[in-house]
Amino acid sequence: MVFRARIDRRTALRGAALGATLALEPAVAVAASRPKPPSMPLGTPIGCAVQAELLAQNDAYRQAIIRDCDMVVTEDALKWDRLRPSRGKFDFTEGDAIVRFAHAAGLSVRGHALVFHGQVPPWLDTLRTRAEAEAEMRKHITTVVGHYRGKIASWDVVNEFTDDSPERGTGLRDTIWRRLIGDNYIEMALRTAAQADPSAQLVLSDYFLEFAGEHYDSRREVMLRTAQAMVTKGVPLHGIGMQGHLYSDRVVDREAVGRFVREVRALGLVVLVTELDVIDQTFPADLRQRDELVAQQAFQLLDAISAAGGADAVLTWGLRDRDSWTRWHKPRPDGLPTRSLPLDDDLKPKPLHHVMQHFRRRVVASEPPSGNTKRSP
Ligand code: XIL
Repeated sequence: MVFRARIDRRTALRGAALGATLALEPAVAVAASRPKPPSMPLGTPIGCAVQAELLAQNDAYRQAIIRDCDMVVTEDALKWDRLRPSRGKFDFTEGDAIVRFAHAAGLSVRGHALVFHGQVPPWLDTLRTRAEAEAEMRKHITTVVGHYRGKIASWDVVNEFTDDSPERGTGLRDTIWRRLIGDNYIEMALRTAAQADPSAQLVLSDYFLEFAGEHYDSRREVMLRTAQAMVTKGVPLHGIGMQGHLYSDRVVDREAVGRFVREVRALGLVVLVTELDVIDQTFPADLRQRDELVAQQAFQLLDAISAAGGADAVLTWGLRDRDSWTRWHKPRPDGLPTRSLPLDDDLKPKPLHHVMQHFRRRVVASEPPSGNTKRSP
């Protein structure tokens, strides 16, 4: 896939930089003492969600993204309300700015989100018939994916399609698309996206796939059932996105996550962490303690995924705390600013940054040993 190939070139280039980390990571040092084939996997490509207006305003923000990321994802720029405030028009201004920035910096781009019940323009409610909904969804996907053909390497095709009562019926969320088109709107969206860009990586993404408890088990089941159905029917689906919005009062179920990842991979699909952050509402106010707990929470998820075969990519939902959606959508009860992301308000790295960089650089342990013990460059 184009997406993988691009990332692999970037991460391979970073091989030279690996030496700098050897003193810090003994496990890496042991693995690195063996010679490696040129395609040696060096870890997981990482990235973050970006906003066009921040890129336009702030050079330090841009530099931090270039330093810390292999890829970016469009945070709000390609949502229906931004792209299509009126029905007849597509406004690609923000999306184009993100793609231009990313490609100039050698970063790949994920697009978010072709079909999503959130952040839609009011005119969408005027759709009445199945034919009308089908035509509008196809037109949207064909136009947007077509516009970015060969430029956006990976798409969240359907985002958040699981119902909040996932154990009910088919477990699919009641959205305008499902109401008018039927459950097969997911399949239709994937097929349409593949037609518009056959080399794009197509992903279904959702939240609450990470925690312990029956509710979360049911959500994982809906995702697996949906993915399985797509694979069985030969629908072009390549990856499953675990959003990874982690909560301070919920426990990451390492065993269930591991099982989930293995099952996804057994279907021939990859797993991505598409929107990682930590909602720190119930963590202590103390900054050091809080930042440490945030990092630990994310480590639990990434380590569990890693042990089950690894993620194709890990993206945080923003890079700098002050830009996080948690500041206004998930505020702390004590009114202190949330600290959900790898960098603080002044772009200084926090423990979560080190966790991300750890998984970015990690040498994959499954590499076969070789008789030649000469140290490679
Ligand atoms: C959020 C954005 O980050 C905010 O800027 C916006 O105001 C609301 O949406 N899950 C998703 C994302 O899939 O699209 C949401 O993004 C965060 C939760």
